[in-house]
Amino acid sequence: MPIESPERKSLHGQWTSKFAFILAATGSAVGLGNIWRFPYVVGESGGGAFVLVYALCVLLLGLPVMMAEVMLGRKGRRNPIQTMEVLALEEGRTRLWRWLGVMCIGTGFLILSYYSVIGGWTLAYVFRTAGGLFTGTDAETVKSVFKMLTTDAERLIAWHTLFMVITVAVVSRGVQAGLEKAVRYLMPGLFLILLLLVLYATTTGYFTVGLEFLFVPDFGKLTGDSLLSAMGMAFFSLSIGMGAIMMYGAYLPKESSIMQTTVLVAVSDLSVALIAGIAIFPIVFAYGLEPSSGAGLVFQTLPLAFGKMHMGALIGTLFFLLLVFAAVTSAISLLEPPVAWLVEKWRFQRQQAVLLCGFAVWLVGLGTVFSFSIWVGYEWTLALDFGKVKYVLFEDKSFFDIIDFLTAQVMLPLCGLLITVFAGYAINREACKREIALHEILFRVWHITLRYIAPMGVFVVMLTPFGLLEFIKGLFS
Ligand code: PHE
Repeated sequence: MPIESPERKSLHGQWTSKFAFILAATGSAVGLGNIWRFPYVVGESGGGAFVLVYALCVLLLGLPVMMAEVMLGRKGRRNPIQTMEVLALEEGRTRLWRWLGVMCIGTGFLILSYYSVIGGWTLAYVFRTAGGLFTGTDAETVKSVFKMLTTDAERLIAWHTLFMVITVAVVSRGVQAGLEKAVRYLMPGLFLILLLLVLYATTTGYFTVGLEFLFVPDFGKLTGDSLLSAMGMAFFSLSIGMGAIMMYGAYLPKESSIMQTTVLVAVSDLSVALIAGIAIFPIVFAYGLEPSSGAGLVFQTLPLAFGKMHMGALIGTLFFLLLVFAAVTSAISLLEPPVAWLVEKWRFQRQQAVLLCGFAVWLVGLGTVFSFSIWVGYEWTLALDFGKVKYVLFEDKSFFDIIDFLTAQVMLPLCGLLITVFAGYAINREACKREIALHEILFRVWHITLRYIAPMGVFVVMLTPFGLLEFIKGLFS
């Protein structure tokens, strides 16, 4: 294997331009994470302080990690597992680094399993809104519509299946074909409707209450758990720490500036999340809903706004359609890494690989379907007992909660941490510099962030909920 192989090409071709990569990466980043997950996690974590930590995590930790992922992807030009292996071997490091790739892909796989179920809810809402179900509705009805959908396992399976079929169909054509064009027009569309919703929110009389909740930090509400969950949210919403952006980086043309592209993606992602929050929270307070009501928050608030708005059924249908679209563009980036691995490493036909992965994801997704329906009431607790110190990893969590916790709060940050260590220490500085092609000063700042600040930041945040200090004290007392 040559030490430097700048001519290395991806098996799956390249984006036609830097702009195409920006669109695809934005398509991956902007999705249910921004519009479904962000508001409800903010609601559960108490608002402003969480939002501030989240934004800091996106800009200070997320951005450098994203740059590292794109750089590694473009240097390796393969799926995450083989990229890690090839790059490690080139640098004379152990091939065990490929296990990091395995962990990344595993994380994406698990995320997709529930992402598809929520994508299914969104699909269902396209039809419910189009049918005029929410016209002139009230909070009680909206709640019960949501409950009826999510407690009915059969319907959930049907929508989950449909969402997975759409994702499989797109990925089996190859992610480049069609994706660029679609993202170019539909993403701005989604953004426009979000702005319309913000306009509506200003008429509820609770606009400033919503803004205060989102932007006035009350640091008393910040706990170790919410710190970690803000960081997990940042990683989730940027699509980093699981190989999706690395995979897209593998298709990035050599000449494109990694810094410029990633900054644009991160800023759009952050803006969409914040705007979704600004649209949703005034509605939450205006209708006396609970900000901490969990995974149903968006589905129980926005229909109220559409129900009251002029031409609400039409705008609402369009909104949910665009949200489905945003979810699909994220889902395909979650499915692409394992598919590329099967194709590149095991010489599968693309179609077969997609079907196999799609089916496996669908199967695991049933766990999430059931945890909202027939497994309601089944909850698990995992506690470690060290004699003097007892540590509760999670308590009374459903299958969905456990997968969500495991991926967003354990695996994504851990992969992110290891990716920075890999890019910062295992790859030599000069090779990094050539690939990332930054101005000297910027490069230094980035490299120092990669080697020291990001890993330490992630590490400390990961340990805060584990009561790091109490734990050490407990062992020695
Ligand atoms: N970033 C996507 C969202 O916000 C979800 C995602 C996570 C996609 C990880 C790819 C990888 O919805």
